Amino acid sequence: MAEQSGNWVLMVTAQTPTNIAVIKYWGKRDETLILPVNDSISVTLDPDHLCTTTTVAVSPSFDHDRMWLNDKEISLSGGRFQNCLREIRNRACNFEDQQKGIKIEKKDWEKLHVHIASYNNFPTAAGLASSAAGFACLVFSLAKLMNLREDQSQLSAIARQGSGSACRSLFGGFVKWIMGKDEKGSDSLAVQLADEEHWNDLVIIIAVVSSRQKETSSTSGMRESVETSLLLQHRAKEVVPKRILQMEEAIKNRDFSSFAQLACADSNQFHAVCLDTSPPIFYMNDTSHRIISYVEKWNRSEGSPQVAYTFDAGPNAVMIARNRKVATQLLQRLLFFFPPNSDTDLNSYVLGDKSILHDAGIEGMKDVEALPPPPEINTVPAQKYQGDVSYFICTRPGRGPVLLSDESKALLNPETGMPK
Ligand code: DP6
Repeated sequence: MAEQSGNWVLMVTAQTPTNIAVIKYWGKRDETLILPVNDSISVTLDPDHLCTTTTVAVSPSFDHDRMWLNDKEISLSGGRFQNCLREIRNRACNFEDQQKGIKIEKKDWEKLHVHIASYNNFPTAAGLASSAAGFACLVFSLAKLMNLREDQSQLSAIARQGSGSACRSLFGGFVKWIMGKDEKGSDSLAVQLADEEHWNDLVIIIAVVSSRQKETSSTSGMRESVETSLLLQHRAKEVVPKRILQMEEAIKNRDFSSFAQLACADSNQFHAVCLDTSPPIFYMNDTSHRIISYVEKWNRSEGSPQVAYTFDAGPNAVMIARNRKVATQLLQRLLFFFPPNSDTDLNSYVLGDKSILHDAGIEGMKDVEALPPPPEINTVPAQKYQGDVSYFICTRPGRGPVLLSDESKALLNPETGMPK
């Protein structure tokens, strides 16, 4: 290093999206390397509405690795963080910034400590795949900082070791996590199937469902499923391989009917595996089940699927509408059944892309009360469930990770390397 004990700080900031699986990852064949028992496919969500921003820095003045998440310092001692840090440092390359007088050789990276600050633009507690965006952003930003030559798929194999689903957040659009065969996991990585422009009619509405119960984490839930569920074995061997091919075809051809049928069936089978686990795991609640019934009923009344639904390890519903017109009708239905509490205004109840709200012709609370019941509902008066949804987020398929060069977006102070 040119200045072993200098007080320079070298810094990179990046933004990385979350993703929602439409063919689910559930079950590992190797717990440490995080190798799955089947391939999975996801849609990347628009980072304008859901993303993690991470700033990483190195400086000879840092005396240990430190991380802050949403302004709170957290421990980096966990095996998953350590594995990602080790893998990145192993692949780090020479770096030189003549202007700043910084020269770091490959072997020096090991001795330099990092500061990492991360921020989610959505509530971490809402159960919206924050670990996927978080680990993807950590790996992507550290790889840029340490000048790695690896391509995006190779980086995904590092992010995978932080959290399985994180590997799919290294790309925008439609992404497949190939399970791979290698015992060491070298071929268990993500590839992009199509970018976010390929099928840009799709609109995604997420219902963040109110829930009091603490859910089983995905990590321990899938471990229990692997140990006890025979349905998981059948799913991984017989069902998913065929579904993956069909889903790839549906995405390629923008065939919404097949896409929706496959996504809904796969979400339902994943939750069936959870029920088949001993003791059974319940991720969905009454609200989740109600949403499934409404969507199924509506899809049937239309004669072909208009909306796909999928649920991860929690009660939140992710609904994918075939186009904007359908999304508008979907939002009207959702607001009819799940009106906000009387003290919540619509502006804080429908988040993300609010133009859908505008298209739906709903501007204020009074309009929600005036919404007519959907024609496919024949129970009069239709039952409403005020307060059962905390809020909705309207979004769409989105781009992959990007570097943020604007220093005002950095989460660490460029002089001190401490959180701003
Ligand atoms: C239901 O990636 O959170 O969301 O690899 O143990 O960190 P770990 O699990 P995680 O599991 C996600 C499971 C899922 C389905 C999916 O995203 O494919």
